Amino acid sequence: MPRDNHVLIFDTTLRDGEQSPGATMTHDEKLEIAELLDEMGVDIIEAGFPIASEGDFEAVRDIAARARNATICGLARANIRDIDRCWEAVKDAKSPRIHTFIGTSPLHRAIPNLSMDEMVERIHDTVTHARNLCDNVQWSPMDATRTEHDYLCRTVEVAIKAGATTINIPDTVGYTAPRESAALIAMLLERVPGADTITFATHCHNDLGMATANALAAVEAGARQIECTINGLGERAGNTALEEVVMAMRVRNDIMPYRTNIDTTRIMNLSRRVATVSGFPVQFNKAIVGKNAFLHESGIHQDGVLKNVQTFEIMRPEDIGLQAANIVMGKHSGRAALRSKMKELGVDLADNQLNDLFVRFKALADRKKEVYDDDLLALVQDADTHEAHDTLQLRRLRVTSGTDTRAEAELTLAIEGEEKSITLQGDGPVDAAFNAVKALYPHGGRLDLYQVSAVTEGTDAQATVSVRISESGRIATGQAADTDTIVASVRAYVNAINRLIERRKKSAPGDDVKQVSYSDPAE
Ligand code: KIV
Ligand code: ZN
Repeated sequence: MPRDNHVLIFDTTLRDGEQSPGATMTHDEKLEIAELLDEMGVDIIEAGFPIASEGDFEAVRDIAARARNATICGLARANIRDIDRCWEAVKDAKSPRIHTFIGTSPLHRAIPNLSMDEMVERIHDTVTHARNLCDNVQWSPMDATRTEHDYLCRTVEVAIKAGATTINIPDTVGYTAPRESAALIAMLLERVPGADTITFATHCHNDLGMATANALAAVEAGARQIECTINGLGERAGNTALEEVVMAMRVRNDIMPYRTNIDTTRIMNLSRRVATVSGFPVQFNKAIVGKNAFLHESGIHQDGVLKNVQTFEIMRPEDIGLQAANIVMGKHSGRAALRSKMKELGVDLADNQLNDLFVRFKALADRKKEVYDDDLLALVQDADTHEAHDTLQLRRLRVTSGTDTRAEAELTLAIEGEEKSITLQGDGPVDAAFNAVKALYPHGGRLDLYQVSAVTEGTDAQATVSVRISESGRIATGQAADTDTIVASVRAYVNAINRLIERRKKSAPGDDVKQVSYSDPAE
């Protein structure tokens, strides 16, 4: 492969990211994220692990059928059944890819109990099988960074000879460091016959906080595909963050003269959607997409930025699609102004959606002095997650709490249209309100996550609340935004229960829990 300066972006938010415990997305959410990734210019979307569950299979198949530009890839272990299932899922894509892997380090080799020679034979057979199905095959030696160099070269060589077109070098446990990451790619390029005919990919985990640096170092040594996720979502400390590597190569193009196909102005929107649907909020000081990434709070910084923005800003907020945090409108603003503002924010609304948003915007403007872009986006998001046909609807909530009384919640829910009320106490207002919901609608859902964050600054800010519950291996998340944190909490909880009810109708118990292990080599 000629090593020109084009770096392919391989996004694995929907596979390695979604695998992160609790980050499970629904089928529709996966389709939506895949569409946004495709529109943003991601070259390859790893859409899932088709053998892992029926849900994964269907998501990969449907994403493959819809993708317009991106190559759609599925993951498969080194066995014929996995590879056949993967091909079944991706084969209708305009550009399909099979990604098959096996753990090559001493620790990983011990699990399938294969000798080194037997593993080489397995690699040859499985890559050959994949290549007979699909002319775009990626092979990964899992835990490559802890694999003996001689053995790594031998396995990569056999995979190339068997027809792999991309060789991915995973730092599975986030163990390597930049210099070593670069040296490993350079070593493979130098020693492996045929290495110049394929693309090397780098796949880094962030356990030591070096995933971005390691990926960029690998590119400098000749890798031309970066595997990454939006917001760095992924198991443990996550994967290389797409927004970090893409913006690093753009901002420091003087020393990293590489280009990608990514339309960076779509980054912020994707980051927000992935945070919402995965239930993993972005830390405030996260590079590129954190809430504080473009804030200049300290006096010295503000002064500098006002005189010349480049004093403290190395990139512009617009580069990642972030609009300046302007006060949008007050309570006297009209429908036309709201429509044009939403257009500017990239949100196209049908007339009925605009009418609904307008009513909610007016109600918010009555309670909140200043309505910001983020407030409007939170309202839109909220409207997207709550459906008129939901089984449970919050009708009324009144909560009392104090230093010397137990918190008490008076709650009325409409359950399939019929109103039911109860008053219950709890350890604090949220606990009291959640107890009341559970008493009115008993369910087996365990509360796995309850997270509150403020949309903007100030004590009158809207709170967005994310709730995740699980029941018999089914996982459901709910979100809501409101200026009253307790109301937002109950609406998010009710929303999660509604999603759980939908999942009960559609899936068998245990469907959301990945049933397979990465080390299972079963044929
Ligand atoms: O981290 C890893 O090794 C992986 C492989 C399955 C490619 O995600
Ligand atoms: Zn990984």
